[in-house]
Amino acid sequence: MSVLLKGGTIVSTTGRTKADVFVEDGKIKVIGVGLDKTAEEVLDCRGKYILPGAIDPHTHISMPFMGTYSQDDFETGTIAAACGGVTCVVDFDLQQKGETLYEALERKKALAEGKVCIDYSLHPAVMDPRPEVIEEVKKACRDYGTPSFKIFMVYDFRVDDATMIKLLEQTKKWGGLVQVHAENVYIIQHMNEVLAREKKLSPYYHAVSRPNIAEEEAISRASKMVELTGSRIYIVHLSSKEGLQRVKDARDRGIAVYAETCPQYLLLDESRYKEPRWNGAKYVMSPPLRTKESNDALWQGLSAGALQVVATDHCPFDFKGKKDMFGKDDYKKIPNGAPGIETLLMLLHSEGVVKGRITLERMVDVLSTGTARMFGLKDKGEIAVGKDADMVVFDPRQAFTISQKKLHMNVDYTPYEGMKVTGMPFAVYSRGRKVAEWRKDRMHFTGEKGHGRFVKREPFSTF
Ligand code: URP
Ligand code: ZN
Ligand code: ZN
Repeated sequence: MSVLLKGGTIVSTTGRTKADVFVEDGKIKVIGVGLDKTAEEVLDCRGKYILPGAIDPHTHISMPFMGTYSQDDFETGTIAAACGGVTCVVDFDLQQKGETLYEALERKKALAEGKVCIDYSLHPAVMDPRPEVIEEVKKACRDYGTPSFKIFMVYDFRVDDATMIKLLEQTKKWGGLVQVHAENVYIIQHMNEVLAREKKLSPYYHAVSRPNIAEEEAISRASKMVELTGSRIYIVHLSSKEGLQRVKDARDRGIAVYAETCPQYLLLDESRYKEPRWNGAKYVMSPPLRTKESNDALWQGLSAGALQVVATDHCPFDFKGKKDMFGKDDYKKIPNGAPGIETLLMLLHSEGVVKGRITLERMVDVLSTGTARMFGLKDKGEIAVGKDADMVVFDPRQAFTISQKKLHMNVDYTPYEGMKVTGMPFAVYSRGRKVAEWRKDRMHFTGEKGHGRFVKREPFSTF
């Protein structure tokens, strides 16, 4: 299959170039002005950007959690991803008790097999840190192609600080990256007790129970472990101004603490928990939404380079049927998480680039190029000769009003209902195959179930 994109503006982390892009056998083969090539598919891209496909390194597909499952599977989740301009996901693979990391990976790959519509990889989440599992980090980095390891400092399946230290020692040796959900569990437990005594159990108190200081303390502590071991960490879904300050402090001291944030922490604030008719439950996620002050600090951090990646933490649960299954009378029982994979690129472009909070080039970095670099996706993240032809032809002027009815995620709401955005994907390619396109008033999936492949990633030292 060959494709010729004609006359578009290619965007990289450092600038823009008007040129044609010729793709063959899934790879970008030639880039040049006025290319004289015949191709099976030719697309007029004048007036449009050619962006590397967004990479979402934080998704929870078919994940067992809080007595239920996150609702998107590898088919629905990656159809939604493609329609939003995301061409690669790195999903979390939660190790079960007694499993090796290898077994956990094979179990999750079997769920993706024949279903996944774009390329994907997995981060093993270490939840049963037996000595042989800590040792297995070497194989995960060198052989399995999964050199990033998620740990939780909260939830029932959290690991203790000693485990964190052991994992950091291993990842330092083998070029891995520990990803941390950083919240102080004891602060949260204490707040939960206080709020229960006061019978404060509505969704709003989810936010009260997890104050900024819980994130700040956990990031500080994790950073100290990095200092001790000389390794590196990556803070997932960073939400607060105070947490960001701790990341900056560590890096100012030469400690390798990286961080991602998500659109919900840039755009939404805690006032959402007070929406009528129990609507606040839609935003019950951990960490919780913060204040506008934190929103602003995160935009600033994104623009200035203190944050390296924007991901989604896509973890959808229906408002009717899942969010209210156990938690109607107690915020602690509402499944934590929200949908977001399909709205990532449109929100970052419209709220970030169009509103002048970040440049277009910075957007490409935090959604694609920097993400590929962080997670060892060496064939992805750039419009460059030799890279996978994962591309978004993007119309920066296309208006769209976000509405769950026009999206593809397998869930009954979007946190951004009614929001107007400027700029939408026009055509999305995964290894040269068109997987989604704009028609009339929305995106349509044009790809094929099972087209996606598992991608082996490179550890830090080899990338
Ligand atoms: O609330 C969230 N974020 N749910 C998904 C699990 C996690 O902590 O990332
Ligand atoms: Zn988390
Ligand atoms: Zn998550």
